[in-house]
Amino acid sequence: MKIIAFHSYKGGTGKTHLSANLATILARKGYKTVILDLDFRGPNLQTLCAIDGNITTINDLLFDPDLTGQDILVSFEDKFKIPLYAAFASTDFRKMGDIVRADKKQRQRSLKRILRLRDELSEAGFDFAIIDTSPGVQMESIDGLVISDVTCLVLKADDFDITGTKSMVTQLYSLLDSKNYVVLNRVVAETCPPEHGEWSPSDLKLVESFENKINEEMRMKVITSIPCFCEVAREGSRNIFSQIHPDHPFSAHIEKLADRILEGL
Ligand SMILES: Nc1ncnc2c1ncn2[C@@H]1O[C@H](COP(=O)(O)OP(=O)(O)OP(=O)(O)O)[C@@H](O)[C@H]1O
Ligand SMILES: [Mg+2]
Repeated sequence: MKIIAFHSYKGGTGKTHLSANLATILARKGYKTVILDLDFRGPNLQTLCAIDGNITTINDLLFDPDLTGQDILVSFEDKFKIPLYAAFASTDFRKMGDIVRADKKQRQRSLKRILRLRDELSEAGFDFAIIDTSPGVQMESIDGLVISDVTCLVLKADDFDITGTKSMVTQLYSLLDSKNYVVLNRVVAETCPPEHGEWSPSDLKLVESFENKINEEMRMKVITSIPCFCEVAREGSRNIFSQIHPDHPFSAHIEKLADRILEGL
């Protein structure tokens, strides 16, 4: 099983959307895929997957040694007809607080349980686990990065804070064993949204200059640049966009991201 994490320095860059859409595209290709919500601080994957109700979450798994991976998996096989699963973070304020207040012992226990979950998922025949994280250097996000084979650092190209991101990359990413890429998301070019999802020649120059800047400043490869699509923003966080609109150019961009990650593995 390969693990791909989405992370960022700042919030709101598109990690949750990219995680869920990449997982959907991989499952559509036939890979048994699970999305793991490690964004314990501000989880919204449940909304994106239209889950509401009493589910057992990763939070429960971290605090209850009797629970296993099977207890927290939610299957979308019947709903979407693809081998897609998810394990969610709790939206219960009390349980979110337990994570924030966890002492050193509990944090060590949590890491052990995340490692055990990885092994259980691997034994259950999953091909991919896609991890959604909290922005910045929260312990649980670092746990997610540490177990990943591929890390996608998501930057919003219009207002990226290259200084903060750069220091995180220098100090944290350099310690990771994973392949680390940058995904530029919500790129606003002159023709917005781009016609048929393709950059015009002048916009392509603009995007390439963004990519080169990141490459030079952070010494990280930009694996892909995804335009800002009004339709994606308009739908907000109510659904997995590429599941509802498989023929939209946004879905084609996620497909490109999937193919490039697969090529690099
Ligand atoms: N390519 C895109 N084009 C337009 N809107 C986008 C695109 N990608 C994401 N968005 C929008 O950006 C907003 C933030 O996305 P998302 O919640 O995935 O970010 P996040 O990084 O997970 O945020 P947080 O750090 O708060 O968890 C959402 O409203 C989403 O619809
Ligand atoms: Mg998110």
